Amino acid sequence: MQTLQTTSLRVVENKLWILDQQALPQQKNWLPADNTEALVGHIHALRVRGAPLIGLSASLLLALLAEHGMTRDALGQALEVLRAARPTAVNLMNNLDRMKQALTQPDFVAALGAEALRLVQEDRELCERIARAGSELVTPGSRLLTHCNTGGLATAGVGTALGVIARAHEAGKVANVWVDETRPLLQGGRLTAWELGELGVPYQLITDSMAASLMAQGQVDAVWVGADRIAANGDVANKIGTYSLAVLAKFHNVPFYVAAPQTTLDPACPNGAAIPIEQRSAAEVTGVAGSFGAVQWAPENARVYNPAFDVTPAALISGWVLDSGVVTPEDVANGRFAG
Ligand code: MRU
Repeated sequence: MQTLQTTSLRVVENKLWILDQQALPQQKNWLPADNTEALVGHIHALRVRGAPLIGLSASLLLALLAEHGMTRDALGQALEVLRAARPTAVNLMNNLDRMKQALTQPDFVAALGAEALRLVQEDRELCERIARAGSELVTPGSRLLTHCNTGGLATAGVGTALGVIARAHEAGKVANVWVDETRPLLQGGRLTAWELGELGVPYQLITDSMAASLMAQGQVDAVWVGADRIAANGDVANKIGTYSLAVLAKFHNVPFYVAAPQTTLDPACPNGAAIPIEQRSAAEVTGVAGSFGAVQWAPENARVYNPAFDVTPAALISGWVLDSGVVTPEDVANGRFAG
């Protein structure tokens, strides 16, 4: 396969490498992901994360395994193992459905390689279109609030919600970005803060519990988030804490936008209640770990509830910004996402 580089994925000499998103921003470690077990481990540990990126990494690995001589049957099994690596983000399933189709071709090695590269290129273009459509909605002087990380680290391109913010900043419209730190794994504090710094976008980091008082003071003009899955009725699964932001935004009359590519749509899923929500380990809530070390503050035997995502009902969403443009609540009520 040709050499490939995104913010957090690399293919060099037919080998897949990932930028460890658990070590950023203090350390920039590129780790090999050259077999199914290794990539599944990286996905579980969120070293590879973000809905689009998970799907792209799995697709690239399958293509590389095929080039390295893995049989069609073994590739089919590897594909199913990868499909189960993260249950909520539907981009993984959507990408792997396309890879599964390529696997049925007579020259499946070439077909898988071409399809994986196509998915990467498409994701770049989808991000660009989302960013441009979304930045039109940003009014000059905006103070925007975002949650989790939806930037170049989480996609092959400029990102989704963070791509919108980046393009709006280029157009001189962003006064400040409030970055939710995003407990428990701190994707905002670690990754979004780093990306915005690299892009030169003015930001201030806040803990998740500070958004309410900022909105009450009139200091937030719009909320922009990404999505891991959009159901047919417009409900959205995204990083835990997104739903509370949407409730707050509604109460304070702040527009709440979801930015996502078409690979995040799941027309077969009727509503948010049908979206599987990944439950994660207690250790993520009883303490914190990263390149800085690990610390536990809760009692050893503390019982923990740790869902990785929550569901925001469509009724709280002002607009869904896709690569095809802005989808309004009226469009959604008229079945725009129902396939
Ligand atoms: O658990 P994560 O870090 O993979 O969660 C990521 C999110 O919730 C993002 O908002 C979503 O995947 C969209 S990334 C463009």
